[in-house]
Amino acid sequence: MAFIEWDKKLSVGVSEFDEEHKKLIVMINSLHDAMKSGKGKELLAKILDEVTEYALKHFAHEEKLMVQYRYPEHKEHKAAHDHFVKTVVELRKQHDQQLLQAGKLLKLLQDWLVSHINNIDKKYSLFFMEAMKK
Ligand code: FEO
Repeated sequence: MAFIEWDKKLSVGVSEFDEEHKKLIVMINSLHDAMKSGKGKELLAKILDEVTEYALKHFAHEEKLMVQYRYPEHKEHKAAHDHFVKTVVELRKQHDQQLLQAGKLLKLLQDWLVSHINNIDKKYSLFFMEAMKK
């Protein structure tokens, strides 16, 4: 069983964003697999960088559509993305300095992603589904 399983309950109703969330989940699962199989610190750091890079692309994509469709909670949503980026940069530093266990890092990424999708992203579901129909 994968570390994080995507299921319909995580759908935000916008297929392109669902696909990006699935990809982030696959990447976090790869990080989990690398950690479990005792891969080196460098590989973990490389996967962590890839997760961060892809998350940044995904955030930019969501934010672009929020601006395009004038999503009213764009500012608050962007602030949540910015906060995550800051947190990951800090976690990365702690990981590099061996102040953070890989297991704790994974749990933080998992909690953040699932909670962000459920509590923040899903707020735009109805808005985008309606806006994109027009
Ligand atoms: Fe799907 Fe707001 O990140």
